[in-house]
Amino acid sequence: MEGRAGTGKLRSQAWFDNPANIDMTALYLERYLNFGLSLEELRSGRPIIGIAQTGSDLSPCNRHHLVLAERVREGIREAGGVAIEFPVHPIQETGKRPTAGLDRNLAYLGLVEVLYGYPLDGVVLTIGCDKTTPAALMAAATVNLPAIALSVGPMLNGWHQGERTGSGTIVWKAREMLSRGEIDQAGFVKLVASSAPSTGYCNTMGTATTMNSLTEVLGMSLPGSAAIPAPYRDRQENAWRTGKRIVDMVREDLKPSDLMTRDAFLNAIVVNSAIGGSTNAPIHLQAIARHLGVELSIRDWQEFGLRVPLLVNLQPAGEYLGEDFYRAGGVPAVVAQLIEQGLIREDARTANGRTIGENCRGTPIEDKAVIRPFDEPLKPDAGFIVLSGNLFTSAIMKTSVISAEFRARYLSNPDDPDAFEGPVVVFDGPEDYHARIDDPALAIDANTLLVMRGAGPVGYPGAAEVVNMRAPAYLLREGVANLPCLGDGRQSGTSGSPSILNASPEAAVGGGLALLRTGDRVRIDLGRGTVDVLVSDAELAQRRTALEAAGGYAYPSSQTPWQAIHRTHIGQLEHGAILEGAEQFQRIAQTRGLPRDNH
Ligand code: FES
Ligand code: MG
Repeated sequence: MEGRAGTGKLRSQAWFDNPANIDMTALYLERYLNFGLSLEELRSGRPIIGIAQTGSDLSPCNRHHLVLAERVREGIREAGGVAIEFPVHPIQETGKRPTAGLDRNLAYLGLVEVLYGYPLDGVVLTIGCDKTTPAALMAAATVNLPAIALSVGPMLNGWHQGERTGSGTIVWKAREMLSRGEIDQAGFVKLVASSAPSTGYCNTMGTATTMNSLTEVLGMSLPGSAAIPAPYRDRQENAWRTGKRIVDMVREDLKPSDLMTRDAFLNAIVVNSAIGGSTNAPIHLQAIARHLGVELSIRDWQEFGLRVPLLVNLQPAGEYLGEDFYRAGGVPAVVAQLIEQGLIREDARTANGRTIGENCRGTPIEDKAVIRPFDEPLKPDAGFIVLSGNLFTSAIMKTSVISAEFRARYLSNPDDPDAFEGPVVVFDGPEDYHARIDDPALAIDANTLLVMRGAGPVGYPGAAEVVNMRAPAYLLREGVANLPCLGDGRQSGTSGSPSILNASPEAAVGGGLALLRTGDRVRIDLGRGTVDVLVSDAELAQRRTALEAAGGYAYPSSQTPWQAIHRTHIGQLEHGAILEGAEQFQRIAQTRGLPRDNH
């Protein structure tokens, strides 16, 4: 069924105003009247707007949405709509074991059923913590009802002894300090807690700030909204505006497929480089694109993103935090710089009905220490390098976090400036790494490449953020902070480690990493985009035969029903780690008719 623009009738009227089936209409009406709505509200053709609530006590990053939802409701009501709030399966990045990565597709499935199966004409997606954003956008893509996202906003800046402490990023730093004996356990907890002074999501350029920024670039939230810190009054106002706007989006029948076009995704790739965005972004954008049927590939990240400079000086690639980003102009100021260079497809439409060019062109930078002008970047060529070779078909490396020290140590051979080579030490899962990293018998030195496997979407399951591994304590004391790391898992967007990650296919499904052995030499060539183990093809074939005879790469068995179901259907990180098969269900509000009556 079309939205209002198609037939003049709202989707919700099939429930509430259907004279041809008065029995069912009465049944639907009486129960929604039951919580205080009136017949007038339900039968007068007012758009029924869902508020998909991702905040709860279990999800502190998004918990402020419980407050913001009241302002969303007021906006919806003021514009003539009816608000109906409902819960979304909680996803808390730092609280969920074995990994929140397991829950993105579960929340997606749940939200698809709600949006499709209930009398909703449009939806406000409350987003924030890492996986809540892609889960919501994936569902909006599949159902294709008018939808607008409301970011909860980042926490206020963290401070410790006069210095900014960024959430997530400080954890990686603090654990090195603890290993070097510079702080004790109480100091460790205090330092980490200082980074999270208020409600909101991570104040660093981690996956949350990245995905909320890219949601704005994709056109799915109001311009200028992503960077507003959670506790600011502007955030409350933004919630009210978002509520008002979705009602008009229903009247205009402005749908996710009208906004999230290939142009919008390419804009998001460009902006991701300029903001120093998370290595989780390629996974999530791929997942959203596949649910819309928009063509996108991991290769697009290198082609359109690699040569874009880093403009935003936020941790982990830089020094500032979320409040500073907002004060400096947020996403529109970054987009404006990129527009000047012809790097943005300006005609992409956005939630406010205007194009991204109309919204952002000419937006000034308010603080050039935080957002750099295009010709004074923090780093040139700050996107992702997409690598492949005899160990995997694709993996990515975030170039914006390659430090000068790392470059000098590993990428400074004058004959071969973009390559390095070294022996590997292989860990099977994070437990193995934690147990053995400080073991002197491994003889890890500054030239060792650390490998993490068994951490992909099937092996873990959900793909754990464990590829950024710290060096052994004895090397940290010698000043070697970052060893090169490689793995089939993910890495927190708050980590500044220049790892090679998201390797697909993973060891658990027979990817080449399963054949690697401690002591093998691996050569990485960033110029050519290759990673290869220096072992003959014949030897690799022999190892594969032995692995298959042993029943394949071993990983712990599933502990919950969902883990088992997920493992049966999940695809690889390169392809968005979606439930393979789900992408056949596209734009179902338009293509699958209405769901059948329930009696
Ligand atoms: Fe929720 Fe970082 S842990 S946003
Ligand atoms: Mg994370």
